[in-house]
Amino acid sequence: MPAAMNYRHLYHAGNFADIAKHLGLLYCLDALKRKDSPFFAMDTHAGRGFYDMQAAEVQKSGEAERGIQRLIEKGLGIAVLAEYFGAIRGRRGKRLARYPGSPALIADSLRPQDRALFVELMPAEARAAEREIESSGRVRTEIGDGYAALKAFLPPDERRGLVLIDPPYESLDELKTMLRAFAEAYRRWPSGCYLMWYPIRSATQREMVHTRFEALRIPKMLFADLAIHPDDAGIGLAGSGLMIVNPPYGADEYLRKAYAAVHDVIAAPGSGYVEVARLTPERMAQ
Ligand SMILES: C[S@@+](CC[C@H](N)C(=O)[O-])C[C@H]1O[C@@H](n2cnc3c(N)ncnc32)[C@H](O)[C@@H]1O
Repeated sequence: MPAAMNYRHLYHAGNFADIAKHLGLLYCLDALKRKDSPFFAMDTHAGRGFYDMQAAEVQKSGEAERGIQRLIEKGLGIAVLAEYFGAIRGRRGKRLARYPGSPALIADSLRPQDRALFVELMPAEARAAEREIESSGRVRTEIGDGYAALKAFLPPDERRGLVLIDPPYESLDELKTMLRAFAEAYRRWPSGCYLMWYPIRSATQREMVHTRFEALRIPKMLFADLAIHPDDAGIGLAGSGLMIVNPPYGADEYLRKAYAAVHDVIAAPGSGYVEVARLTPERMAQ
């Protein structure tokens, strides 16, 4: 059983890292709809459905204020972000009252033939997800460990779809745990699209994360990194990273443009960067 945890996503909901992660998630969900055949979407660390932007935790951290609220205020007309704004329902000139978590975004993307599974360790969050998300039987929420669920539920009958792995990184071992669970999931289901989020705290740590992914020797890995503070500035979270395995066609170009737009609006002046590039080739050499 995972160790007891203090993490509460409400402090961070709607921050730049949520924006970056959800841009990648929505692009991949949209890409799955290019074909009519059903897909399966799994969210291993789901959180709840929606985050109240009036909540004391949100006000206290100020992360959404510097993140999604600023993006809406300054960037609502940016074309490359139009679909994202549509998905979070940010309206022109209005502040966002609630920010959707990944389960709400996924549920909203499903067609009648598609299916989703949300896994969340904290019962209160899982119940909130269940309550807040309208479902017509295509969505299931499980209270439990997301890594164990990868073993239990993959590969899906649909044989196509995506998995979002978005752990809180409270424990120093989280990256190791995630990589091990992902490698095992990939062995079971090598054609799935996997999106894995990681924090960027410094240039050295980012390099280490990339190296550890590369060491898995799995082809078709795309990383999308967006930093809004200088690396090594001593700030907790300088940037947000997303590793996408089996990315859909066009993801590289889309994320490069979308992240650049977010960076322009949100980054501290003269700080940070956007880097979207292939980590591993289409085929691994033997
Ligand atoms: C970063 S938040 C998820 C945010 C969400 N994916 C989104 O994008 O809106 C991480 C969540 O993982 C949950 N969690 C922590 N350890 C877990 C585990 N082993 N299995 C499943 N959920 C876990 C936390 O309670 C928290 O809600």
